[in-house]
Amino acid sequence: MTAAISARGLVKRFPAMEHPALDDLSLDVAEGEMLAITGPSGSGKSTALYAMAGLIRLDAGAVTVLGQTPVRRADWARVRAASLGLVFQDDWLLPTLTAVQNVEMPMIGVERSATLRAERAHAALDRVGLAKHADRLPAGLSGGERQRVAIARALANSPAVVLADEPTGELDVANSERVVGLLRGLNDAGTTVVIVTHDPGVAAACGREVHMVDGKLEDAP
Ligand SMILES: Nc1ncnc2c1ncn2[C@@H]1O[C@H](COP(=O)(O)OP(=O)(O)OP(=O)(O)O)[C@@H](O)[C@H]1O
Ligand SMILES: [Mg+2]
Repeated sequence: MTAAISARGLVKRFPAMEHPALDDLSLDVAEGEMLAITGPSGSGKSTALYAMAGLIRLDAGAVTVLGQTPVRRADWARVRAASLGLVFQDDWLLPTLTAVQNVEMPMIGVERSATLRAERAHAALDRVGLAKHADRLPAGLSGGERQRVAIARALANSPAVVLADEPTGELDVANSERVVGLLRGLNDAGTTVVIVTHDPGVAAACGREVHMVDGKLEDAP
């Protein structure tokens, strides 16, 4: 098996926490796999996803993405720009940019042509059903619409790996199905997908499910 992501011995402690948020977590995600991470609130799912994207400083352990094990922030930034599409629990849209400008953000520095960037951003918004709101600011969108803009932004660069934290958390049934269908379609085309979810229906759409408890995988030794 070739691993798209290989996490080894991850430990993350937050100040004033008795138990580490990640407690010697090891997890392999195969290339082309669609994996669900489930588990109770506070079990470390989001922290694990942040670690896989190089967005938190670990107390121990290492993450390898497509054969590279970045350590320095600049190396992680390069890996994220080249290979990762990120959807977080908070949408992190920039409030002064329109929906389509937000979607274009990760393409800056990757795609030189402004025309192509705009075309791709509009196409990505269309795929999440938001073509008509391309020119709206985030404040003028509902929570679910903002979440879909964040998903479009994650997909705009055609990343090899998509890491999504509760991507359907704010969505109604129809849009949840649309987003899961979109991620399934990407996965069918070869994209590796990792989804943190509380929704059993979303987990069932994935090829494999792992369950986190107290900062590690449930069945890990
Ligand atoms: N920045 C932080 N500072 C202090 N503690 C934190 C921080 N981020 C997370 N934690 C703690 O780490 C633990 C794991 O948090 P995490 O957000 O990974 O949980 P989760 O499984 O994603 O939960 P949820 O399903 O509610 O999103 C929790 O106890 C949380 O309170
Ligand atoms: Mg979380």
